[in-house]
Amino acid sequence: MSVENAKYANDVSEYVEAALCPPTPAFAHAYTNTSAHGIPEIALSPSQGKLISLLTRISGAKNVLEIGTLGGYSALWLAEGLKDAGGKLTSIEIDPARRAVAIENLEYGNVKVPEQVDIVLGAALDVLPNLSKEISQGKRQKFDVVFIDADWDNQWAYFDWAVKLSSGRGSVVYVDNVVRQMLETGVLGPAPRDTNVPNLVEMVGKDDRVDATVIQTCGGKNYDGFLLATVR
Ligand code: DHB
Ligand code: MG
Repeated sequence: MSVENAKYANDVSEYVEAALCPPTPAFAHAYTNTSAHGIPEIALSPSQGKLISLLTRISGAKNVLEIGTLGGYSALWLAEGLKDAGGKLTSIEIDPARRAVAIENLEYGNVKVPEQVDIVLGAALDVLPNLSKEISQGKRQKFDVVFIDADWDNQWAYFDWAVKLSSGRGSVVYVDNVVRQMLETGVLGPAPRDTNVPNLVEMVGKDDRVDATVIQTCGGKNYDGFLLATVR
């Protein structure tokens, strides 16, 4: 990024979001109702929400998995991306209060819970093996898109599960916040390197199951970046 132009990042976000993804009442309500319940304002930006919705449509996904529901803002976008295909989102949330707010926000947006979006309560590392069992029992289908936006130290463990539960060649895995995770665990930047936390980007680079890239982001939200992978 040319540093002298970075000061326009927020203006650009506002401009493009007004033009390309202006907030509908459902998306506006999801932001305000989530913060009214004291949940941190760490949901995706509208542009990033639109991106995961577009990715869902581009890939023709029918079954999407989300790890980390928060207040359901990203779930609303994923549900929008699944509408044409009549698909379903399964989302995992560890906090019952957040899950309740997410259900409110989805229903406000006329999304049917649990038919269109099912929010499973629990720690992802407990829930994921259960989903795997249900898949092998033929009770559930594998996932075409997995969106990971949960606790940063487990990014690699979630990614590994995402690939295992993916429907195969062309499946998409998107991981939020991978740049901030690298800075906080000292992979880059001044923090001492935390060698107890496997770095997602290094692990993915050695993983023959996938092809991936990282895109840095700015504007709307703090400087950060996401990882996008597809299953080979
Ligand atoms: C923050 C942002 C996120 O997208 C997230 O998932 C968690 C925390 C943050 O800005 O602190
Ligand atoms: Mg995030």
